[in-house]
Order: sequence, then structure tokens, then C-alpha cells
Amino acid sequence: MKVLVTRRPPGRALEMLAEHTEVDCWEEDRAMPHPELLARVADADGLYCMLTDRIDGTVIEAAPGLRVVSQMAVGVDNVDLAAFAAAGIPVGHTPDVLTEATADLAVALLLAGARRLPEGVEHVRAGRWGPWDPDLLMGAEVSGSTVGIVGLGRIGRAVARRLGGFGCRLLAATRSRHPDVEAELGVAVVPFPDLLASADHVVVTVPLTSETTGLVDADALARMSPAAGLVNVSRGPVVDTDALVEALADGTIAWAALDVTDPEPMPADHPLLALPRATVIPHLGSSTHRTRAAMAELAARNLVEALAGRPMPARVG
Ligand code: DGY
Repeated sequence: MKVLVTRRPPGRALEMLAEHTEVDCWEEDRAMPHPELLARVADADGLYCMLTDRIDGTVIEAAPGLRVVSQMAVGVDNVDLAAFAAAGIPVGHTPDVLTEATADLAVALLLAGARRLPEGVEHVRAGRWGPWDPDLLMGAEVSGSTVGIVGLGRIGRAVARRLGGFGCRLLAATRSRHPDVEAELGVAVVPFPDLLASADHVVVTVPLTSETTGLVDADALARMSPAAGLVNVSRGPVVDTDALVEALADGTIAWAALDVTDPEPMPADHPLLALPRATVIPHLGSSTHRTRAAMAELAARNLVEALAGRPMPARVG
């Protein structure tokens, strides 16, 4: 059996695959170009892919023997799930193993944005650090603040758990209700517009779907307080980037701290990056040694199990 791996994964994933299959791995340090992927997947039984790959009907057409797709990510918005369901090809992903690392990063961004850490670092590096200044770079407190969490899935809940320790009042906007979980976390579920209007800080954790694309648009930003900040650790297109640039530039909101952007990667000359209160990092939510290895290995297990005709440990849907 042959497996195409579209980028070298960390940890033991390749060894795990090689114990059971013949592995063809794209070794370049960049995403595999789509035409190359289509050419090399042609005789593959399994596809081990990344969130930077476009996995759609063209892959199904190119690979008549394909029996399983396994992505090294929890988000699968790059995969045409309907097409794979129609073709009877299961898709695996990597939930749970990245929840804690991503929630840690969400809180790091919340603290960084609210307390103006990137501006402080820049201030020192630029040689502007003078004698102690009672007004210097004052920010907003996270402790005791009201935080609105958009999406109360695994990552949203893990963020809520952490912020309970900061004495935050927690609001959430979520479609699926779990009263026991909400009670345990001390989260009040409110309509999205109410969350925007009441929160000191908004943290976006929803997956990207047709319903969440552009969820945080000009109208949503206008509902937020001018002192409020926005964190996004989900997918870039959940936030309307042009509207965000405008909202930061005209003071509609105070700050934004983003792990994900639209476009991604964001070019260095993008107007968002010229705004001092926009903090942008390059999609690092799950990027710890332990978590990335766990994701890579879970994706390998998904693939090996499906090829052996057994249930995947983590199948989408
Ligand atoms: C995912 O898994 O979807 C993240 O965005 C990368 O860890």
C-alpha cells in the first residue's frame, strides 16, 4: 500500500507509516504544489495531508485507488468533506491533542494584546525606554474582566477554564448548548451581538464554515466597546480583515491579537501590520514540540487504522 505525505511531519509519524506502507514524502520545506500533489497521489491508497493543501474533488479524480485522507490538523476547512463523503473516502483529523496548547496561546495573545506586550518590546528595542513613566503603554486588565468566547467547543472550553483562574466573567456565543459544561465552567451563553456589546475582550475559537466566514465583520466590530480587544485562534476568514483594519485605525476597537489571518500568510506590507495595536503571529496555536508530535502521530494512526479496515481514532464527522 502506498501513502503520499504532503510535508514531512514531526515526531515518529513517518516511521509509523513506514511500518505498514510504502511512504512517498514531499521533502521540500514548503507546501506541496497542487499539480505535484495530483501527480503523486495518482497511485496512492492513503493521503496524509496538511491544512495548506487543497483537498477537493480533483484529488478524488486523480487518485482512483484512494481509500483514506488523514490531515495533520483539527480544522479541515481545506477539505471538501461533502465530496469525500460522496466518494465514500473517510477523512481523519487531530482533535483533542492540540486543545491545551492552542488555549494556552489564546490566553497568551489575550494578555499580549490587552497589556500591550509587543509595543513594550518594540519600545525597548527602538531605544525609547526612558525613566519610569506613569502613563507609559497603559493597557486593559484581563483579571476580573468580561471575556466573550465565540464558540464553546474543545478550545473555547479550555480557554474558559484558564480564564476562570483570572477571575473573569465569562460569556459565550455558541450554537450547541451543554448546560452541564456551561455550569461547570461558569459561562453564561448569550446571543452573539450581546456578547460583543458586553465583553472587554473577545476570543474567537469557532471552526471555519460557511456560517462563520466573515462572522466578525464591520457590523460586529461596531458593536464592541472602543476599549475592547479581539483575539482570533480559529481561522483567518472568520474575521473580515479589511473591516478589522478600519476598526483599529479609527478606534472602533482598541486592539487585536491574531494567530490566524486572511490572507495567510500575511504579506509584510499588509496595512494590518502597520497598526501598532495589531499583534499578528504566524499560526502557532498548536506549535509546541509535544503537541505537534502528538498531532503528527495521531494523523499517522488514523491513516494506518483506516487502511487496515479498522475505525480511525479520530474521524471527521
Ligand atoms: C489546526 O489543527 O487546525 C490548527 O489550526 C493547526 O494546529
